[in-house]
This record gives sequence, structure tokens and C-alpha cells, in this order.
Amino acid sequence: MPEFHPFSSDTLRPLAGLKVRDEQTTFVASNLMTMAQSIFEPGSKIYGIWEKATPVGLLAVVDMYHPEADLDEGDDPDGIYIWRLMVDQAHQGRGHGRAALEFAKSIACERGRSKLVISVVDEPGGALPLYKKFGFRPTGRIVDGEVELIMGLV
Ligand SMILES: CC(C)(COP(=O)(O)OP(=O)(O)OC[C@H]1O[C@@H](n2cnc3c(N)ncnc32)[C@H](O)[C@@H]1OP(=O)(O)O)[C@@H](O)C(=O)NCCC(=O)NCCS
Repeated sequence: MPEFHPFSSDTLRPLAGLKVRDEQTTFVASNLMTMAQSIFEPGSKIYGIWEKATPVGLLAVVDMYHPEADLDEGDDPDGIYIWRLMVDQAHQGRGHGRAALEFAKSIACERGRSKLVISVVDEPGGALPLYKKFGFRPTGRIVDGEVELIMGLV
């Protein structure tokens, strides 16, 4: 079971060095880009995914209830948005992605939010099947070209 630690100045380099497979680069921004964008994303928080001392992935969430959260029209603020999720190419397929979704769920429950929201590129090799298996359902909306999915927590 991996551990989740808030990103810090000490872990910037190891987390920035993680990479998805070449054919997956269109599915998620680089970790360095996520770190830079988080400065301008109110309510965002980045976690490193660690297996003991080894960095294996990155999860970034946005608390949609944050007063300055950048919501789209029709968004319900009572949710945690899974903004970025990646597992390094050398560590995929070992349950870390699923563990990250569970961790995001625990964040939402701790904060009293009633849903988890995620959006995904619907292309072969993408994570849509994983999210559906986990319990997310499409909302019917396409946001910035990605399929939006939601999971109620109450
Ligand atoms: C998607 C991603 C985070 C999954 O992480 P992971 O650690 O490899 O996933 P897990 O090992 O926890 O897999 C959980 C389940 O999902 C399935 N799964 C994972 N990725 C999948 C994919 N791309 N397509 C279909 N099924 C997938 C696994 O087979 C597994 O199924 P099981 O529980 O029945 O055995 C990882 O593959 C990744 O970083 N991909 C590239 C970036 C990306 O697409 N990020 C998501 C952006 S929305």
C-alpha cells in the first residue's frame, strides 16, 4: 500500500522526474507543469505517491468548495476534483492508481464533500475503464475535450 505525502520543496525533484509511457503523455500534464499550474489553481493540493522511500506517482486534487476555485458553469462546489493522477511507467499496474482514487475519496470524506469528480481523455489506453470500474459514472458533459465523471459519496 503506497503512502501519500503532500508535495514539498524536498520532494519537488524526485516527483518532477517521474514519467508516464511515451504513448500516455497526451493523457496527463507533466508533473513539473502541474506543480507550476498549482500556483494559479486555488484550492489545489499535490501529493506524492510513495512506496517507502521510492516516489511512484503524483495525485493532485482541487477542493471545489474553495472560495476562489475556478469552477465551470454548472459545477457543484460540493466536491473534490481529481485534477491530475499519474503513476510512473516503471510502477504501473501494481494498484497505485486505485489506491490514489481511494485516497482522494478519503480526502473528500474528511472535508465533508459529497462527491468526487474527474475528467479523462476518452482514447484507447486511457484511464476511463479504470474510473468506471472504481465507481465513477459519466455526467454526460464534455469539459475541455474530456469526459467528465462523478461519484457520489453519501
Ligand atoms: C491511469 C493510471 C494512473 C493507473 O495507475 P496504475 O497504478 O497503473 O493502476 P492500478 O494498478 O491501480 O490499476 C487498477 C485497475 O485499473 C486497470 N487499469 C489501470 N490503467 C488502465 C488503463 N489505462 N486502461 C484500462 N484499465 C486500466 C487495471 O488493470 C486494474 O484493474 P483490476 O483492479 O481489475 O486489476 C496509470 O496507468 C497512469 O499514470 N497512466 C498515464 C496517465 C493517465 O492516463 N492518467 C490519468 C489521467 S485522467
